[in-house]
Amino acid sequence: MIPRSNFVVFEGVDGSGKSTQVERVTQLLRREGVLVMATREPGGCDFAESLRSLILDQDKLDPWAEAMVMAASRIEHCRTTIRPALARGEMVISDRYLGSSLVYQGIVNGIDVEEIYKLNQLSDEVIDPDLVILLDLENPRRISDQSTFEKRGEAFWFAVRDGYRELAKRFGWFTIDAEMELADITEAIIGRILEKAGSKG
Ligand code: TYD
Repeated sequence: MIPRSNFVVFEGVDGSGKSTQVERVTQLLRREGVLVMATREPGGCDFAESLRSLILDQDKLDPWAEAMVMAASRIEHCRTTIRPALARGEMVISDRYLGSSLVYQGIVNGIDVEEIYKLNQLSDEVIDPDLVILLDLENPRRISDQSTFEKRGEAFWFAVRDGYRELAKRFGWFTIDAEMELADITEAIIGRILEKAGSKG
């Protein structure tokens, strides 16, 4: 089984179980003999990992400054981690990517989504994923990390949820109900990855 949907991204609001699913799907594919590199944003390379804590600890940056730091991290992530892995023939699974910037820095921070997209395209290094999987959650009651949640509040959480839903419709992201059983979510994701691989011939 060699999926050819090589660059897969998981997106979702805080508490959607995205990182758990990245881990489960990665393990399952590896067990099937697929070479998978799992990575994350903000992060995924030395430069972006060192920016990560700086960015996440900031209470409030200027919206454009935030968008630019995210884009700069992504350029280096693509250049030094994602592109080399794809060139080696590996599948890349990223926990968050450009979709996070479109939602958090775009919709939620009030910058036009097109502008955020264009900003990220200023470097040729940034590539579009083959498949975006959105783990959608109706409400925040399942959130385990309450400190993050409380810091940003409920209105912020719902704005992110709605932003993701809007973009999923617009860009045709594969949306999964994150309230389902863990195993069922994993199965649905693997199914979509294989289906996509098949449709690419
Ligand atoms: P993290 O602690 O990794 O949260 P999660 O486990 O939910 O992924 O924090 C990542 C945070 O960074 C999250 O709140 C979304 C935000 N983010 C952006 O605002 N823009 C981006 O482009 C990316 C990649 C993340």
